[in-house]
Amino acid sequence: MIDIRSAVLSAWEAAWDRGEVDRLDELMTVDFVRESADSGNRTDLAGHKREILEIRAAFPDLSTTIEKLIVDGDDFAIFWSTTGTFTNDLGEVPATGTTVHTRGSNQGVFRDGRIAFERVTWDQRSLLADLGVPSLRAAFESLPDDLVVDDLSGDYSREALKGFNRQFITGVTVVTTTDAEGKPRGLAANSYASVSLDPPLVLICVQKTSSTYPALFHSQHLGINILSTGQRDTLATFSSRDPDKFASVQWHEGPKGSPLLDGSSASIEAEIKERFQAKTHTVFIARVIHAEIADDVPIVYKAGRFFDGASLAEL
Ligand SMILES: Cc1cc2nc3c(=O)[nH]c(=O)nc-3n(C[C@H](O)[C@H](O)[C@H](O)COP(=O)(O)O)c2cc1C
Repeated sequence: MIDIRSAVLSAWEAAWDRGEVDRLDELMTVDFVRESADSGNRTDLAGHKREILEIRAAFPDLSTTIEKLIVDGDDFAIFWSTTGTFTNDLGEVPATGTTVHTRGSNQGVFRDGRIAFERVTWDQRSLLADLGVPSLRAAFESLPDDLVVDDLSGDYSREALKGFNRQFITGVTVVTTTDAEGKPRGLAANSYASVSLDPPLVLICVQKTSSTYPALFHSQHLGINILSTGQRDTLATFSSRDPDKFASVQWHEGPKGSPLLDGSSASIEAEIKERFQAKTHTVFIARVIHAEIADDVPIVYKAGRFFDGASLAEL
């Protein structure tokens, strides 16, 4: 008669924390079924092993704590929490380097001393939020539909939308970050918007084909610089795909190392909190941690043209 409690703890730890998934053979019946409480999707033992190995490949330092194990006759419940660093891509989702915490519980039944069935409930939403990616269908086929963003396809008149956008007046920013080698990267963007003051959130939309995009996606922080009328050349540089845009500008680092451009009307550094997928673009939501406000007059942008923010007529 095996001690069921220690068998669960040691096989679980071996599989999840060391990748020794075959240890689950000691613990599960050959016809073991694992069911997601959210989606109702079912996997067998081989599928479960594959899932563990895929998750461990993305989070190599994965560490699981079994917080409580309740055994009542043939019924059991396990309450667990997991921590890991998102180091390698998971399916199509690029690694962010962020540390993820998630927790969940498994309820199930034993048959002849082995787990025959378990139903898993885990906090997918907090995990997805930590990953910064709401759509993980490619990585986890079993995600319920309400967690997967709409495919956003549509054929509304491109010209009409362009016409609408041309009536909208904005400033122009340069969004900055550093790449894996520590090299400063950035692009001109007018998609800046303030999301909320409390918490202090801002957003920016960046095209995935931008050469700055991979560095931005992998960054923890970004800089946003509102360009001033003295930075017309800087605007031209950062609207281009010049591989060394920072060679021609003066800049300094924010507290977390994001490049902030000297001579800007204002600059902020912010911690990236969300990366929402919107087809061709990613919407970055970031929490402001630092701001520098200057007197330099901002550039005004409308319908493809730039104007002097000092000569606006008040209504
Ligand atoms: C006024 C203006 C606003 C722009 N806004 C955005 C924007 O919000 N998001 C974006 O991805 N690109 C935007 N762009 C385009 C990028 O700046 C441009 O594609 C740039 O070449 C990208 O550089 P990169 O590929 O080196 O990153 C804008 C360009 C201009 C001139």
